[in-house]
Amino acid sequence: MAFSVRGHRRNGLFASLCVAILSASTIVPAEVMHVYLTWQGDTSTTMTVNYHTANDTAESTVLFDSETRGGNSEAYAFRAAGRFHRIPGLNMHAGADRAIHVVELTGLRPGRDYYFIAGDPVTGYTEERKFRTAPAGDAPVRFITGGDIGTDPVVGRLMRQAAATDPLFGLIGGDIAYANGNFEEWTDWEVWLKFWQDTMVGPEGHTIPMVLAIGNHEVNDKVGPATERAPFFFGYFAQQGASLSPDSTTFFRRSFGANVVIYALDSGHIADVDQEQRDWLQAVLEYDRDIPYKFPVYHVPMYPSHRLYVAPTSKAERDHWAPLFDEFGVVAAFENHDHMYKRTKRMRANQPHPEGVLYLGDGAFGRNPRTGDQARSLSDPEQLARMGLLESYLEKWEARLHFILVEVPARAAGEPIQFTAIDDKGVAFDTYALK
Ligand SMILES: [Fe+2]
Repeated sequence: MAFSVRGHRRNGLFASLCVAILSASTIVPAEVMHVYLTWQGDTSTTMTVNYHTANDTAESTVLFDSETRGGNSEAYAFRAAGRFHRIPGLNMHAGADRAIHVVELTGLRPGRDYYFIAGDPVTGYTEERKFRTAPAGDAPVRFITGGDIGTDPVVGRLMRQAAATDPLFGLIGGDIAYANGNFEEWTDWEVWLKFWQDTMVGPEGHTIPMVLAIGNHEVNDKVGPATERAPFFFGYFAQQGASLSPDSTTFFRRSFGANVVIYALDSGHIADVDQEQRDWLQAVLEYDRDIPYKFPVYHVPMYPSHRLYVAPTSKAERDHWAPLFDEFGVVAAFENHDHMYKRTKRMRANQPHPEGVLYLGDGAFGRNPRTGDQARSLSDPEQLARMGLLESYLEKWEARLHFILVEVPARAAGEPIQFTAIDDKGVAFDTYALK
């Protein structure tokens, strides 16, 4: 979907300069450069619209309505105001500087379509888009998940296949644009955001919101505040409080209807796996005791298919998080980082168990699949013994680009939860039904 800009162009000279400065690159900023959706709170009654402009504007505004208004800014019944920020230091890079607008729409009705444009009368507005709020109560929820994405052309193909499944949201498990938190690599985010905007639109035209967990490729090697170590992750995605604000964190919960809750966790990239994050995880799992379907997402796998099972982060997560997953009956955990497809046996107390937690991964939503070194060695009894395991934890693994479709039925339906791995050609190559 292209982004035309409506309204006046008082800063046309500025825009022309930007185009001239960027002529060496393929990226030409329009006046409203990106628009995409996140949540900061209740998914059935709010939506957060994020968008970028080259200029500072007087207003950060979203005009919206429950029916289409064709982009006519005079016609929308509702108006939400937000604010914008800049990422300090990003202006050192020609073309990278922009105002990042965050506008939260509140008081929405669950399970409804809304039509919106974002911008202001001076800068212009985006084309009209629409979104759907999450349902309330005992309703089915469908989403896709994947991580380790990047900016190769195959990402567009994978996202198109993902959008075709008509998910309520996309759950991303880190290593997103591969800009490594470095301003020099800012164009990676331009390409990535364009992929998402152009392709993550459902069959009925819904722009698909995202819920993002952090990975190692979001973080630079600076020492300092978290927002400077992962400037794009915090600066571009309003997810927890206002982005770039001191209360921004890399671990948070998001619920969808009465039955589904997601925990975005941080595999030690900003926050340590243990201590505060572990205590927080225990507290929210206790709080969510009555929500039946719990799904954590994080970057580094506990049960890797390529890297070493004994790697310190994997072990730390097994030590600090897995016992909580077991105790509170997590349904499935989404893991990434190894650039493989894998489905584990259901695990409890670090051993296969018929009612245990399913671990799905391992992050190849665009990055070239690896060879599955750890998966191979799990078939060797001596290696298993060295790892302290009685048998392989893997049920299925494959070096294959993919995302995972998760279909959670309403409880009243009494149906299993369905997990389907789908590749860039739309082939569903692994399915698992969990009662
Ligand atoms: Fe990674």
